[in-house]
Amino acid sequence: MDLGIRGKKGIVNGGSAGLGMGSARALAREGVDLVISARGEERLVRVCKEIAEETGSKITPVVADHSTEEGRKAILAECPEPDILVGTCSPPTFTGDYRDIEPDDWYKSLAITLISPVEFMRATVEGMAERGWGRVVNIGTVAAKYPAEIRILSGAPRAALANYTTAVSHRVARDGVIINNLLPGMYHTATVFDLFSDTAKEQGLTYEEVAKAQAKKMHIPSGDFGDVDDFGAFTALLCSEFARYTVGQNIVMDGGLTNSTF
Ligand SMILES: NC(=O)c1ccc[n+]([C@@H]2O[C@H](COP(=O)([O-])OP(=O)(O)OC[C@H]3O[C@@H](n4cnc5c(N)ncnc54)[C@H](OP(=O)(O)O)[C@@H]3O)[C@@H](O)[C@H]2O)c1
Repeated sequence: MDLGIRGKKGIVNGGSAGLGMGSARALAREGVDLVISARGEERLVRVCKEIAEETGSKITPVVADHSTEEGRKAILAECPEPDILVGTCSPPTFTGDYRDIEPDDWYKSLAITLISPVEFMRATVEGMAERGWGRVVNIGTVAAKYPAEIRILSGAPRAALANYTTAVSHRVARDGVIINNLLPGMYHTATVFDLFSDTAKEQGLTYEEVAKAQAKKMHIPSGDFGDVDDFGAFTALLCSEFARYTVGQNIVMDGGLTNSTF
């Protein structure tokens, strides 16, 4: 299926690993030229080169921290008028006990998970509306909809982001700008690999075996964690022509872990 976005320009913030990388790869496979940001240069340059070689799309790495104003300026300088904006980051710190969360922890998490996507939308959505076409996908977390004490620093700001993006999406949908959020559960990413590879070593098992056992323990109906390229394909679909009637949604992608009819 041709998603109808060949030749569009996009920004993927946080695209050198995990769900951002899967999303960048899927968009590039559809012929979108991308500016991809991340803080770590070596991995970013390597991943951009791999994606460019595989897809033939123009991929420009920008080493920047998108939680800072300076970082956002550097990214937007490379792509001031994107058609497509995708934003993600590393999962914020896990929190054992809500009483241990200090204001500084909140400021750090808010800067990357809420202020950054809000500022990118503020800088780009109006231009998309004037040009009559745009797509925004923010990659949040299932914890936005299903709160858990351990994910307070991740879930609470994304709940605010979900509220903001839905409100803005209603204003600009008539101008051809479509904004949605994806809310992932557990995926096979570097963060998750790090989380379980020590256990694997200790128990003499492979990472895959430990991950499957964990998925079983968590009662994930699909029986495993998700795949970043499957996820990326959904991001690309929400950035496609076919997304024009899907407005302001927060779509849970968690293998059935959480239980809700709607
Ligand atoms: N992995 C999961 O199973 C899971 C579960 C639930 C929710 N999520 C959510 O899904 C999203 C993506 O998670 P992930 O596991 O894919 O993360 P990841 O594997 O750690 O990848 C994060 C990407 O963002 C970049 N990044 C992080 N902070 C950045 C910053 N300040 N400025 C620029 N780039 C930055 C990282 O590169 P650098 O480090 O080099 O900057 C990397 O490319 C997060 O919102 C997370 O909360 C993930």
